[in-house]
Amino acid sequence: MPNTVVAVVMGSTSDWPVMQHATEYLEQFGIDYQAQVVSAHRTPDLLAEFGSNARANGICCIIAGAGGAAHLPGMLAANTTVPVLGVPVPTEHLQGQDSLYSIVQMPKGVPVATFAIGKAGAINAALFAVSMLADNDPAILQKLEDFRIQQRDTVLDMTLPPAE
Ligand code: RP5
Repeated sequence: MPNTVVAVVMGSTSDWPVMQHATEYLEQFGIDYQAQVVSAHRTPDLLAEFGSNARANGICCIIAGAGGAAHLPGMLAANTTVPVLGVPVPTEHLQGQDSLYSIVQMPKGVPVATFAIGKAGAINAALFAVSMLADNDPAILQKLEDFRIQQRDTVLDMTLPPAE
């Protein structure tokens, strides 16, 4: 099976409002993806199975979002050599700083590429996956270059209101 499917996983349906920004961008670029809930602490066996079978199941990278003591990205990375892109989900009491530190501070040897807290992180994780896939797909590369041009033009068209 070709490695062309991006997996988007999250610890709970409560993460979906943030993580769906990643799937929206993957759709925008025409990237095949699968999205599902996998909880590190509530479904540890499913996590191990998902990670262990990821490469054989044709998953080229895993975008993993979780909040709090966010073990999902790190434990997925522990179970696979497929690249894991971690998205810290905002939390009620620590505003996602707990998620960020849990994901970004992986001890050496098992990396998780960590993105910004929340929506920006989910979008950038998807764009990072797009960049990786663009290496071997000229059509995806063209879409990415068009996206950057469109984004540049949006800024060039910005005008400031008169000073008050
Ligand atoms: C984590 O606990 C999830 O990633 C989520 O961010 C957080 C809260 O989960 P729920 O209590 O909303 O299911 O595992």
